[in-house]
Amino acid sequence: MKVLVVGGGGREHAICVTLAKSPKVDKIWCAPGNGGIADVAECVDIKATDIEKMVAFAKEVQPDLVMVAPDDPLALGMVDAMEEAGLRAFGPKKNAAIIEGSKSFAKDLMHKYNIPTAGYAVFENSADAIAYIKEQGAPIVVKADGLALGKGVTVAMTEDDAIAAVKDAIDGGAFGGAGARVVIEEYLTGPEVSVLAFVDGKHLKTMPSAQDHKRAYDHDEGPNTGGMGAFSPSRFYTDDIAKTCMETIFKPTVEAMAKEGRPFKGVLYFGLMLTPKGPKVIEYNARFGDPETQAVLSRLDSDLFDIFNAVIDEKLDEMDIQWADNAACCVCMASGGYPKAYEKGKEITGLSDVTDSFVFHAGTKVQDGKMLTAGGRVLGVTATAPTLDEAIRKAYADVKKIHFDGAHYRTDIGVK
Ligand code: AMP
Ligand code: GLY
Repeated sequence: MKVLVVGGGGREHAICVTLAKSPKVDKIWCAPGNGGIADVAECVDIKATDIEKMVAFAKEVQPDLVMVAPDDPLALGMVDAMEEAGLRAFGPKKNAAIIEGSKSFAKDLMHKYNIPTAGYAVFENSADAIAYIKEQGAPIVVKADGLALGKGVTVAMTEDDAIAAVKDAIDGGAFGGAGARVVIEEYLTGPEVSVLAFVDGKHLKTMPSAQDHKRAYDHDEGPNTGGMGAFSPSRFYTDDIAKTCMETIFKPTVEAMAKEGRPFKGVLYFGLMLTPKGPKVIEYNARFGDPETQAVLSRLDSDLFDIFNAVIDEKLDEMDIQWADNAACCVCMASGGYPKAYEKGKEITGLSDVTDSFVFHAGTKVQDGKMLTAGGRVLGVTATAPTLDEAIRKAYADVKKIHFDGAHYRTDIGVK
């Protein structure tokens, strides 16, 4: 069987490597892919958001399955376009991907179906938003409505910071059209847990829990990033909490989307906060998370290709998905300066010295036989072990063997 994977980061590398383990899969294309993905897949130079070219390529090579991994092409309707071209595609259609693409849609859905989340209000006018902030007081959270590369959220500890965030988004156009509307939310506290689930429109199967690390530096300091590392499982996500989440959040969300005429098929990502008043939804993503996927899929014992097909065929209830009873830790190595300006094209050395981890590539490319940096997040060094402590130790032992000019990484992934 032949598969086309859309995307080119660490998450897509993990998806390609896991698909390649299936005895049924004998050919993978990845567009655009990266320097590490080239080891398992044929990389095709098409931008993940270029729906027209991607569909034309898929029509030409006729994969048995197209897996659309990133948020942008999903929000733009790539799955719909593939289906219209007669191809089998894994991922939510545009009308369901909106659960991530519009935070106000997600909040209104939760409100309508009584799914626990932070209290909120939606504004398109900065004067009204500012009046609301003054009435509510700080701390308070300001979120751009649309996709903003994970940078559209301001957790404001003062009213002034919240007001500045509103002005930036609505009046300053900091996030383009994505910030023309803002959601202002009640500030919640508690440990954060990510739970990803396969969903086939009606049924869902959760994956083991994970936690990512969004801030650039140790102790959760510094600016927000796409994610500096992840581990699985979370210490906080007990069986009792999992049961509560299934009854109050996961099933109700899948049912709500179906009732709205937007059946969700693909991977639904629940960003949760375990507050003193119970688990609440912080965000939904309509896809595998990055870098959670690198940690979580490292623990999958079942055939990912079979799971994708069961989702497409709405037969997930018939699947018995097995996970290893272990732990995984993924440490991201980033370019110097990331998430602000950084240089690319630095040679990466030491990859062949890695012994106990798998190195997922995020931003790399091969040039003249050398592996070079080609993005902000460069590598996700991922180890599994019977315990989380051991997985952390193994991942960091291998991180220390890899070098490139300016490399930086957090030293506390998995510790909190
Ligand atoms: P998001 O992009 O929605 O995941 O938000 C980024 C981060 O902001 C989350 O991982 C939380 O740490 C924080 N955050 C988002 N919403 C809230 C909230 N209502 N209360 C406190 N922190 C929040
Ligand atoms: N790690 C969070 C995300 O993928 O959005």
